[in-house]
Amino acid sequence: MNNIILCGFMGCGKSTIGRILSKRAGLEFVDMDLYIQDKAGMTVSEIFEKYGEERFREMETEACRELAERENLVIAAGGGTLAFQRNIDILKSSGKIIFIDVSYENLCIRLRRDTRRPLLQVENRDERIKELLEKRLPIYRGAASVIMNGNFTSGVVASNIMSVIR
Ligand code: S3P
Repeated sequence: MNNIILCGFMGCGKSTIGRILSKRAGLEFVDMDLYIQDKAGMTVSEIFEKYGEERFREMETEACRELAERENLVIAAGGGTLAFQRNIDILKSSGKIIFIDVSYENLCIRLRRDTRRPLLQVENRDERIKELLEKRLPIYRGAASVIMNGNFTSGVVASNIMSVIR
């Protein structure tokens, strides 16, 4: 029950903040996308391409189940992980969910040059970000027990999280 689960939109800084936080808090860091990639032996983009998004979502839920069995982790969830109630239920039982809230404008800037996220490889990227964000925001907010302003540097956000998890 003592894991820290970071959630939020793609580009909100979950992985960078998670790494800093895990060092400061003396916890182990797990990046869920990397965990899935290691198990599958291929990248997230390759999984989407070869098996489709639905299969990726199943693998994601499997990863949630496995990680929720462990303790003393800082988990950086994928941007879509906490958009599914089944994953919220699993992860909530294993620790505290923290939503890193970054503005639409900043997300667009941060994701402008992205080439590795399959959902963003579309012509009108900002529009896609807007659609997904509108759908997911209320779900992230409902799932999290802490909402953190993520419009700062990763070090500052990590410090702010440290002060609420102590
Ligand atoms: C996704 C976010 C990605 C990755 C996959 C799908 C999403 O994770 O899991 O590309 O649905 O928002 P990051 O948030 O770490 O980029």
